[in-house]
Amino acid sequence: MSQNPKRYTITAALPYTNGPVHIGHLAGVYIPADIYARFQRMQGRDVAFVCGSDEHGVPITLKAKKEGITPQQVVDKYHAIIKKSFEDFGITFDNYSRTSAKIHHDTASDFFKKLHADGKFIEEVTEQLYDVEANQFLADRFVVGTCPKCGNEESYGDQCENCGTSHNATDLINPKSAISGAVPSLKETKHWFLPLDQYEPWLKEWIVDGHKKDWKTNVYGQCKSWIDDGLRPRAVTRDLDWGIPVPVEGAEGKVLYVWFDAPIGYISATKEWAAREGKDWEPYWKDSESKLLHFIGKDNIVFHCIIFPSMLKAEGSYILPNNVPANEFLNLEGSKISTSKNWAVWLHEYLEEFPNQQDVLRYTLTANAPETKDNDFTWSDFQARNNNELVAVFGNFINRVVVLTHKYYGGEVPEASEYLEIDQTILKELKTYPAVIESSIERYRFREAQMELMNVARLGNKYLADEEPWKTIKTDEARTKTVMYVALQIATALAVLSEPFLPFTSEKLKKMLNLSSSDATKEYDIENTWKDVETKANLIPSGHTIGKGELLFSKIEDEQIHAQLDKLEASKKRNDSMNSVQDITPQKDTIQFDDFTKLDLRVGTIIEAEKMAKTKKLLVLKVDTGIDIRTIVSGIAESFTPEEIIGKKVTVLVNLAPRALRGVDSEGMILMTEDTSGKLVFVNPDTDGVSNGGGIN
Ligand code: 2FM
Ligand code: ZN
Repeated sequence: MSQNPKRYTITAALPYTNGPVHIGHLAGVYIPADIYARFQRMQGRDVAFVCGSDEHGVPITLKAKKEGITPQQVVDKYHAIIKKSFEDFGITFDNYSRTSAKIHHDTASDFFKKLHADGKFIEEVTEQLYDVEANQFLADRFVVGTCPKCGNEESYGDQCENCGTSHNATDLINPKSAISGAVPSLKETKHWFLPLDQYEPWLKEWIVDGHKKDWKTNVYGQCKSWIDDGLRPRAVTRDLDWGIPVPVEGAEGKVLYVWFDAPIGYISATKEWAAREGKDWEPYWKDSESKLLHFIGKDNIVFHCIIFPSMLKAEGSYILPNNVPANEFLNLEGSKISTSKNWAVWLHEYLEEFPNQQDVLRYTLTANAPETKDNDFTWSDFQARNNNELVAVFGNFINRVVVLTHKYYGGEVPEASEYLEIDQTILKELKTYPAVIESSIERYRFREAQMELMNVARLGNKYLADEEPWKTIKTDEARTKTVMYVALQIATALAVLSEPFLPFTSEKLKKMLNLSSSDATKEYDIENTWKDVETKANLIPSGHTIGKGELLFSKIEDEQIHAQLDKLEASKKRNDSMNSVQDITPQKDTIQFDDFTKLDLRVGTIIEAEKMAKTKKLLVLKVDTGIDIRTIVSGIAESFTPEEIIGKKVTVLVNLAPRALRGVDSEGMILMTEDTSGKLVFVNPDTDGVSNGGGIN
């Protein structure tokens, strides 16, 4: 491919539509993809940036079961929430589609039919895991067990999220149904398999030999290890009732595997967009001069680097991804983000608590992007990045420039006169940044790219601090004008170069500097391209009047951060208490009231206690039951010493039939239970001052 491709087909992983999106999604996939797409558009390149909701698969069905609604209701609800979150955060998809759309059902069905007609599948009856209680096959996330590769005990049937390996459900060790908890049995069923083993030599050549240098090491390493381990045929159909029906005869009741249909969703989304825009979708997927890129998280690598490319190859008319810049995972305050544990920062909630502060989150997530290893989001880092970088560096520089321009020149860009060496050096350095940032973006190093952007603001701040226009204004008008002119060039460069990273700020800044061309009534119409920052002498000309100043960023206070940490703490507590609830022994079978009334429960006092000889567990007690004093043998010696229980008020079951224990007749029972940690405790009548013998009702 030539240096600059003819067009860019940029895809971002289709999120499962079983819950809202959180910061992990944004940091791992959507922000880097958006920075890349915005950047390419700014270079005037032809871009199709597509995504959509992944609405099939077991995660949706499980959610529907949990919420007691239909899968369709689940996807309708979350599709709307997710789509809005992306819009709110300025993710500029050209099309955000959904896999329940007709165009997608048709595209995925046609794709399957073509491979089927071309004999690309193996059709085979095999034994699959089956839940007899739930009366259904256990595909994918319907089954959990131990990963045969890494030993993770919570691997799903189709993929282990710990080591990324994709496997068949029957490979799991100790599989359990996620529906009923039952141990599955095996049942025969027919499926269509993509013989990945046949694609192995080609994958080796294409990835192992062909992309060693240009793919990220984390992506390349995973692919190489799977290919080296050997690939096996993968079923691309499932016995489920939610999904795209398998479009061939003899496949009643079967649907396409979600990972077969979802990546085809990128194609459907491109088709839908092209139809809307009056364009032809095919070059974006079939012209070798198009650059196809998949932005994904690391758990999706196998599907985008091995399975989907094999499908595209099998079909025959498609191009292959040029790169798959997958990110690692983002943790939150040191722990894995978890939807079920509500250990997450949800995008829609963030915006309620930090309204109009999308760029602060975009900035922090890019600064900490898990590009080469898992990374951590902490609220204190978020606060520090905002206060010490966005407010103190970027915001401060712009504020000083805008305020001083209004104060000294009524908002008019002054005339520069003689440039000193420092001015020339600064202007020269400024012109190097577009290429520096571009080079990082083109290598998918978005953290580095954003850091260079901030260096432009740092350059401006340092220049003002060194040249001190607020001092020279009293002594040297011409010098002050030159300094302010140069500072305004830097501010304008920032408005341009920040657009991919901080789009809301860039927009605000363009308005502040009166650069925005959307308003036709404006006297000036100043459009600067990325390249202009490198080449143009005047990014903002003398005599141009800038707009009113406003703060780009505001300080985030400790209380706001504490509130977020409290919220997480509450989630943690809820989880802890739920975990302990899970530890409690399940309730025994229901008894009738009549059964209960048969129990004669009395308040008693332990008046004597001693260990029974030659036993570990037994104490022989004398208990005053109010009606008599009787001997009770109790198995509590490992939890209590005789001394500590003498004098203790207890609840006694007095009409339990006597029985002999180690030769001692036990005439009743002291009621005991276990707390959630398993410690034995008395069912204590709490009746100090109440006489023994009182019945308990
Ligand atoms: O991991 C996920 O959330 C998947 N829904 C990603 C699908 S990407 C694609 F292939 F559609
Ligand atoms: Zn594993």
